[in-house]
Amino acid sequence: MGIRLINIKTIPASKNLGQMSFFEFQDDIDFLIKRIYYITNVQAGCVRGFHAHKELKQILFCPYGNIELTLEDQDGIQTIVLDDPSKAVVLYPCVWRKMKWLVSDSVLCVAASDCYSESDYIRNYDNFLKYLREHDED
Ligand code: TYD
Repeated sequence: MGIRLINIKTIPASKNLGQMSFFEFQDDIDFLIKRIYYITNVQAGCVRGFHAHKELKQILFCPYGNIELTLEDQDGIQTIVLDDPSKAVVLYPCVWRKMKWLVSDSVLCVAASDCYSESDYIRNYDNFLKYLREHDED
């Protein structure tokens, strides 16, 4: 369980060729990645998410734009704004998330520890709170 903010190593290229960001198992994240997905073409003001996962671990980052994450776990609610390619958040199991697009066309990228499985989702908020209570000591 839990939420971890990490700094993705980001290095400038010489001669105005931009910058590059990278992370890898084991130095930066403590799980192997089986799936990558990204969300594009979203208008400012849209809010997605409204779910938690039972087992899945994910790293979320925003290489372009500005996205506000509202995250709730057993320790309470926190808001994190992904507004730089070097910022990322690792979500361990059982974090209720909402992602709000602050800028149109911001790109949300997610690298996940497992393949897609609808049975790993908790999509009902009351069920999430119940699941949190039942797994409090995990
Ligand atoms: P969902 O995770 O609910 O999106 P969000 O929380 O960002 O609103 O996924 C939306 C739909 O896409 C859902 O019906 C399942 C499907 N989906 C896949 O088939 N594979 C995937 O890897 C993901 C992330 C979603």
